[in-house]
Amino acid sequence: MSFFEEKNPEMDRYLETHASSEPEILRKLRRETYQKTTQPHMISGYQQGRLLTMVSQMMQPKNVLEIGTFTGYATLCLTSGLAKDGKITTLDVNEDLAYLPKKYFEESEYASQIEFKLQDAKEFLRETDQIFDLIFIDADKENYAEYFRLIKPRTKSGSVVMFDNVLWYGKVLEENPKQKSTQVIKELNDLVAKDNDFENLILPLRDGVNFLRRK
Ligand SMILES: C[S@@+](CC[C@H](N)C(=O)[O-])C[C@H]1O[C@@H](n2cnc3c(N)ncnc32)[C@H](O)[C@@H]1O
Repeated sequence: MSFFEEKNPEMDRYLETHASSEPEILRKLRRETYQKTTQPHMISGYQQGRLLTMVSQMMQPKNVLEIGTFTGYATLCLTSGLAKDGKITTLDVNEDLAYLPKKYFEESEYASQIEFKLQDAKEFLRETDQIFDLIFIDADKENYAEYFRLIKPRTKSGSVVMFDNVLWYGKVLEENPKQKSTQVIKELNDLVAKDNDFENLILPLRDGVNFLRRK
């Protein structure tokens, strides 16, 4: 659920019924996320899932990184276009919930290509020397600017990076926000807009996706 969906649920239903249908495994995962978790609204959900699926299918990436697994909805969308020898690394710090994405990853036809790590993303990014074709960031907003700095050296020409929630329920329009998360999301969007190594577009989908491509 987002700022936009809350405002116009009828339009949201229209969008959903006029796009490709949700695969059964995602439908099940979405249902179980709403039954078993306390913050189910964190799930990427249908529209954003479609975007991730289509980007993955168009790119056929070899090496994908996701920051913020939650129950694994976006992970499964991102796997759908993986190259035959491709893989996705997905990171989360929530051990209590890990049973849920693990269950669905095992059920997925891409099970052998998914590496689920319970590790802080900053720590991972400081240690890894991998280069990623596709990166999706949907985790702690207070670290978004730092994630951008850490991720840049882990990309190459043509790499695609997507940051979720970059409109932050419209709060990015506040001139002097008190909330730390709003301040950092604004900092991220400013950093991206000024970085000549990337081209980008903020898609006003759900809560906003900053969509970047390394030149
Ligand atoms: C909005 S949810 C992710 C939703 C998920 N991408 C999906 O499609 O359903 C954010 C997740 O980020 C995780 N997270 C928060 N801080 C993190 C960190 N420092 N490193 C890795 N994951 C983190 C949280 O535990 C939470 O599960």
